[in-house]
Amino acid sequence: MELFKAGIIGTGSFVPDKLITNKDLEKIVDTSDEWITTRTGIKERRIADKAIASSDMGTNASLKALKAAGIGAEEIDLIIVATVTPDMNFPSTACIIQNNIKATRAAAFDVEAACSGFIYALAIAEQFVATGFYKNVLVVASECLSRFVNWKDRNTCILFGDGAGAVVISRVDKKYGILSCHLGADGSGKDLLSLKAGGSRQPASLETIEKNLHSIHMEGSEVFKFAVKIMAAAANEAAKLAGLTSQDIDYLVPHQANIRIIEASAKRLGIDKEKLWINLDKYGNMSAASIPVALDEAVRAGQIKKGDHVCLVGFGGGLTWASTMIRWAI
Ligand code: ACO
Repeated sequence: MELFKAGIIGTGSFVPDKLITNKDLEKIVDTSDEWITTRTGIKERRIADKAIASSDMGTNASLKALKAAGIGAEEIDLIIVATVTPDMNFPSTACIIQNNIKATRAAAFDVEAACSGFIYALAIAEQFVATGFYKNVLVVASECLSRFVNWKDRNTCILFGDGAGAVVISRVDKKYGILSCHLGADGSGKDLLSLKAGGSRQPASLETIEKNLHSIHMEGSEVFKFAVKIMAAAANEAAKLAGLTSQDIDYLVPHQANIRIIEASAKRLGIDKEKLWINLDKYGNMSAASIPVALDEAVRAGQIKKGDHVCLVGFGGGLTWASTMIRWAI
């Protein structure tokens, strides 16, 4: 039962300084700036220095989100981190961030839904706030994909980048906030996007290393077909659950995997380019972090205003997909 309306009251993001351009990649694998640009829209991506892990980027983004929200870390009741690239198997990256930002009252756990993870985490946060169980939840998505990419595989190494985004979810005026969330999964597509070794099925061994099973494996064109179908359908579903249609969307923040996927989805939804935030040219695909980084940039650029219907939509490994419709509260 919904007692309170939950909404985003602050956003933050962080990307590492170091960048790798398509031209740089030409020196590493058999590819070209022209191929990468026309097939993906990506021009460059950020790569974390050796000493930096997902929790460090997530900490940075969290502090910015707290500042934007105007609340202190001690006021946070729960931290949820979406990531497929945690610092380690356990403890959770959420616990590490909790300690870093000194959110001493907060519970903390991680969520794994690949590129859909941020919206999954947001939907969980919304439940806690709407029922009154918690007042302030910090939702973070942080990814250090450069550590899990096979830099000899041109099919994947060109696509990914590192970064983090965060939002504070809190009680907002009943007229605003998260209007709907739609989450989906199809585990029959589990082999299309995976990192096979390092878990309980195939623990790390000399053999798993030799076979390159500790880096991302992707069936690109199958994922592409799935993405084009699911992005528009998921955005439509979030609009419908909110009692709206895609024509009511004032601003769309899609997962940033491929410009062709974004453009095809926007076309299906009848949404103009001016209503889209696109930053994959600068950052590539940051998995779960892509949407909150794009959202933070759009907010700070003044593209999203109080009362706007903002739709977030993503898809990813699992396979998973997720969307949400928000009436912007700040
Ligand atoms: N440079 C040059 N040629 C390349 C490169 C490269 N970097 N990569 C692949 N090619 C070649 C292929 O080898 C293939 O050659 P072939 O025909 O001789 O075999 C040719 O280009 C075409 O390959 P396709 O895979 O058919 O190319 P496509 O147009 O599908 O684009 C891409 C590939 C960009 C990966 C696209 O399929 C895509 O974006 N898929 C979706 C990926 C995605 O969204 N992932 C998100 C999830 S991430 C997560 O959850 C962690």
